[in-house]
Amino acid sequence: MTSPEAAPDTEKHHTAHPSRLILGEITGGSAAFMDLPELLATRLLVQGNSGSGKSHLLRRLLEQSARLVQQAIIDPEGDFVSLADVYGHLVIDAADHTEAALQAAGERMRVHRASVVLNLEGLDADLQMKRAAAFLGGMFDAPRAHWYPVLVVVDEAQLFAPSAAGEVSDEARRASLGAMTNLMCRGRKRGLAGVIATQRLAKLAKNVAAEASNFLMGRTFLDIDMSRAADLLGMERRQAEAFRDLPRGQFMALGPALSRRPMTIRIGTVETESRSAGPVLMPFVPPSEPVHDLILAPLPLPEPVAPRPRRPPSPDLVEALAAHSETITQSSEDTSDQDPAERRNALATLLREILEDEEAGFRPPASIYQDFLVRCRIAGFGRDAMDMRSFRRALATARSGISPEAEETPQWREAEDIASRVPEDMQAILLTLARAAMENLPCPSDREIARIYGTHSTGRARRALTWLEEQNVIVLRLDGAGRRRVAFVGPGWETEAGNPDA
Ligand SMILES: Nc1ncnc2c1ncn2[C@@H]1O[C@H](COP(=O)(O)OP(=O)(O)OP(=O)(O)O)[C@@H](O)[C@H]1O
Ligand SMILES: [Mg+2]
Repeated sequence: MTSPEAAPDTEKHHTAHPSRLILGEITGGSAAFMDLPELLATRLLVQGNSGSGKSHLLRRLLEQSARLVQQAIIDPEGDFVSLADVYGHLVIDAADHTEAALQAAGERMRVHRASVVLNLEGLDADLQMKRAAAFLGGMFDAPRAHWYPVLVVVDEAQLFAPSAAGEVSDEARRASLGAMTNLMCRGRKRGLAGVIATQRLAKLAKNVAAEASNFLMGRTFLDIDMSRAADLLGMERRQAEAFRDLPRGQFMALGPALSRRPMTIRIGTVETESRSAGPVLMPFVPPSEPVHDLILAPLPLPEPVAPRPRRPPSPDLVEALAAHSETITQSSEDTSDQDPAERRNALATLLREILEDEEAGFRPPASIYQDFLVRCRIAGFGRDAMDMRSFRRALATARSGISPEAEETPQWREAEDIASRVPEDMQAILLTLARAAMENLPCPSDREIARIYGTHSTGRARRALTWLEEQNVIVLRLDGAGRRRVAFVGPGWETEAGNPDA
């Protein structure tokens, strides 16, 4: 960069020389230039923390030089695709092409002299590295006849040339680091001029950073990045401390294409839009309706299709239904002045007493219902203490073995809600699994599930579990030792591992 103070011979120029770009202005308001031919020969490193304005700076540089030099942009976030609208860059979505295709594209863009944005948005780190490497490799390997100058801009360069092994595969890291090293160390002869930007200098491979002779240093907070910057620039640590105080959009410039002495410049405006502009602060209006149910509603369950073959209605059930309709036509003692919670507890206790009988598990619900109604009448709850539907729900809850305290928790309400959406004969199984999950108990064995299901057949118990899994209500998992866990789709509750054959 030159300026009236730095180089008096430029004072009379108010517009840029054809090979000089105006990056912005220096303190005092005069233009801050960048010498393009010099940049092509000596490369550029931009560093600054997130939000310091690196991408904006790259955009300014690209816009200013778009009509002067061919460009390739390695764009991990799809930030630069808008250059296509104004300057006609070809946007290549890396997600849509194989490495071989991208390698060919890299070579062909040089043959046809087209500016390209390689959009790597949405790919995982491994694929971003491999595909960027393929494209850069293609450009690097283009035949000598096509070695025209290309400005190769790599945003977030630490992704492609990381200083340390990360979570990516060795293969991806090797390919990508190799391509970046070629670009920065061996690219010049082939016409490739690397311009790389990074948030964290300490995360960028040293050999890649070291090949740039021009620097634009933005706001930097971390000591480790600051000392790397001071080393690279041959500055005192004390001088580098100034990077901490740089506002967004201001960079310290140094290098043959910029300025021979460190100088602070403010980057100018841009023509195309960035897609990465941060969120705009708008007046916040809290929702007027209660949002609990909107946000925490259980995930919809599929309608229970083709329910498993059910037991034919037993004579007991027919009798029970008849008995029940009889009970509701008869008058009953008035118990309406009783506290509903107390009443619910008392009824639950009655039900538990019935279920304490070992054989109760294998009696059809209708028969238990009759028994229950009789006991209710004796206890003074009248003839229609509970209708059949509510009774089935109460039975399922009682069979799960949940404690009266736990029964009052919101989780249990949610469990009952999930249970209400499966066929009635499945509800007890579901609630038993829910209780096991909430109390961190092992998944019940097939035999236990069979008993709750009202059958002696463990095969039927297993089919019931499979059916619940097919309905996307639960997920069954077997560990290496053949033990089973059950997880609930939606709330995510999970039982401990239990032996299915216990
Ligand atoms: N010189 C500038 N003039 C006006 N706005 C700017 C300038 N520099 C940056 N901005 C704005 O500040 C915001 C952050 O800038 P930018 O996206 O360039 O940061 P960055 O350093 O690339 O951050 P990240 O590392 O997170 O990608 C953007 O909305 C950008 O438009
Ligand atoms: Mg950025």
